[in-house]
Amino acid sequence: MSLSPQVWKDDHLLMLDQRALPQREEWLTLRTSGEVAEAIRDMAVRGAPAIGIAAAYGMALAVLGGEDVVLARRTLAESRPTAVNLFWALERLDPVLVHGFDAVLAEAQTIEREDLAMNQAIGLHGASLVPNGARILTICNTGALATAGHGTALGVIRSAFAADPTIFVYSCETRPRQQGLRLTAFELKHEGIPFVSIADSAAGILFAQKKIDLVIAGADRIAANGDSANKIGTYTLAVLAKHHGIPFYIAAPSSTLDPSMPTGDSIPIEERSATELTHIEGVQVAPEGTPVYNPGFDVTPGELISAIITEAGVFRPPYHFSA
Ligand code: MRU
Repeated sequence: MSLSPQVWKDDHLLMLDQRALPQREEWLTLRTSGEVAEAIRDMAVRGAPAIGIAAAYGMALAVLGGEDVVLARRTLAESRPTAVNLFWALERLDPVLVHGFDAVLAEAQTIEREDLAMNQAIGLHGASLVPNGARILTICNTGALATAGHGTALGVIRSAFAADPTIFVYSCETRPRQQGLRLTAFELKHEGIPFVSIADSAAGILFAQKKIDLVIAGADRIAANGDSANKIGTYTLAVLAKHHGIPFYIAAPSSTLDPSMPTGDSIPIEERSATELTHIEGVQVAPEGTPVYNPGFDVTPGELISAIITEAGVFRPPYHFSA
C-alpha cells in the first residue's frame, strides 16, 4: 500500500484526517504552522514518525508564510510531549531555517524520505525474528499511517508477511482512541494479512491459550537503557509476555532514540482529555463528572524487551544507546 498520511502540494500540506478513518477519507488543507500544531494535538496525524514529519512541514509553512519562526517552533513543540521524533525533527531544521523556504522544504522532504527507508530496513531486520507461521500480537497503529510509509512494528509484520503468508496477527483495539481497531485493522485488511482485532483486555487469555508466538510494538521514545514509551497498554503486554516466556520486541527508527534520557523515568507522559474515555463517538457514556486518569503512553522497562529493532539492526539487552 502506498498510503501516506501527508503530502506536500505546491504551497500547502495535505493531511489525511485519521480521526475520520476508516469510515471516510478526508484530507485537510493546512497553510500555517498553527494549523499543523492543532492537527498534531487533536491527532488528525499521529504516530511518532508521522508527527515528526508533520512538524517539519509545519516549519516549512511558517517560513513560507513569513510567520514568527520562533513562535511557530514553540507552538509545534508544545503540541504533544511524548514522541521524541517531534523534537528531533524541529532540532534538525533549526540550522536550515536561515537558508529560506526552499531549503526548509527540501529538509522536510528528506526527513520523510529517510523515514521510509528506515522503515523498510527495520522491516527486513525484524522479519528475520519472525518464525514461520508466527502468531503475532501488536498494539496501536504503527503502519504506513503512523510513518512515511511501510511502518515500524507493522512494517515488520508487512515484511514478514511478504516472505511467509501463513503468519497471523492479533491486533489490540487500543482504547481509548482505537488506533488498532480503526487504523491497524484498515491497513491489515488492505494488505490481505490475516488477522483478528481483540479488545485490549482479551490479550491475557490469548497468552494463556498459547496462541501468541511473539509481541511487537512501536515506540514514541526510547531511553539510553532501552526503556521504551509507547501507547498505553504496551507495558501490560510486555509483562504478560515475560510471564508466559514469549519474546517481546520494539521496532523503531533511530529518530525515536533519546539517549539524553538515561532511563524511562524522565520520559514525559502525555495525559489526554477525560472525554476520550467518558465519551464514545461524541456520546457521553460515563456518569456526569466521572473523574478520569487518561495517560496516552506507558513505559516498558528495557529488561522486558527481548530486542529493539532499528534500521541499524537488532539490539539485545542490556541496552546502551548513545548519541
Ligand atoms: O497516540 P498515538 O496514536 O500518536 O500513539 C502512537 C504510538 O504509540 C505508536 O506505537 C508509536 O508512535 C510508534 S508509530 C510507528
